[in-house]
Amino acid sequence: MTIEDQINNTSLPKHLAVIMDGNGRWAKSKGLFRTKGHEQGSKSVKEVVEGCAEIGIPYLTLYAFSTENWNRPQREIDLLMKLLVSSLRKNQKTLQKNNIKLNAIGNLNALPEKVHTELLEVINATKTNNRMTLTIALSYGSREEILKTVKEISHKVKNNLISPSDIDETVINNHLYTKNLPDVDLLVRTSGEQRISNFLLWQIAYAELYFTDTLWPDFKKEDLFKALLNYQNRERRFGKTSEQLKK
Ligand code: IPE
Ligand code: IPE
Ligand code: MG
Repeated sequence: MTIEDQINNTSLPKHLAVIMDGNGRWAKSKGLFRTKGHEQGSKSVKEVVEGCAEIGIPYLTLYAFSTENWNRPQREIDLLMKLLVSSLRKNQKTLQKNNIKLNAIGNLNALPEKVHTELLEVINATKTNNRMTLTIALSYGSREEILKTVKEISHKVKNNLISPSDIDETVINNHLYTKNLPDVDLLVRTSGEQRISNFLLWQIAYAELYFTDTLWPDFKKEDLFKALLNYQNRERRFGKTSEQLKK
């Protein structure tokens, strides 16, 4: 039986988030420039997007560029941005064919205009697709997102649009970039690093975490299915006891 056959389609994560890490190390191990790693990494993106759509995961969120990644050498940033535009163009067909809606989270205004425009174009072209929502986290940082939320809610309080006692989790959720997405069920990080790196801090409150040593450019459908199988063998208790869940 293949790994895919062992997956139970009735208990898949509704929202899978992935920290795609290890492109640079992959390239270095082969004596190549870091850019080659990013190029190869975009092939893994295609694999995972298609794999998730095929198996029936409704929400997939990929961490592509963090607010901290702006501190990388300008040359690498430029190449990453160029690669983004070309893969958006190249993959628009795949998105349409698979009925996938593209979404983006992060401080998109910080992106070069060309990237921003291209991104909005693909988002607009795929907006009625409904098999899966693919969210790309771009220029995304969870602390920046939380700050933005606090500021927006403070303004509303100041203008008497909302009273402090009405602020609850739903109000906060509705001001996050992720307002239309459910909480994350499974967070995967590749490349052996075991940290969150400012990704979806609020949204992963009860996510299952899965770390693999596989570098992102080597991450294929099989690796995705392995992560899903691992997730399905966990008991998500949400604070309750195991006995309560069995009732
Ligand atoms: C992930 O790979 C891609 C981005 C952060 C844009 P890295 O570029 O971080 O690769 P490593 O961690 O240096 O190997
Ligand atoms: C996290 O990877 C961001 C993305 C995958 C886009 P990094 O490689 O930037 O993370 P750190 O800084 O090593 O934690
Ligand atoms: Mg890295």
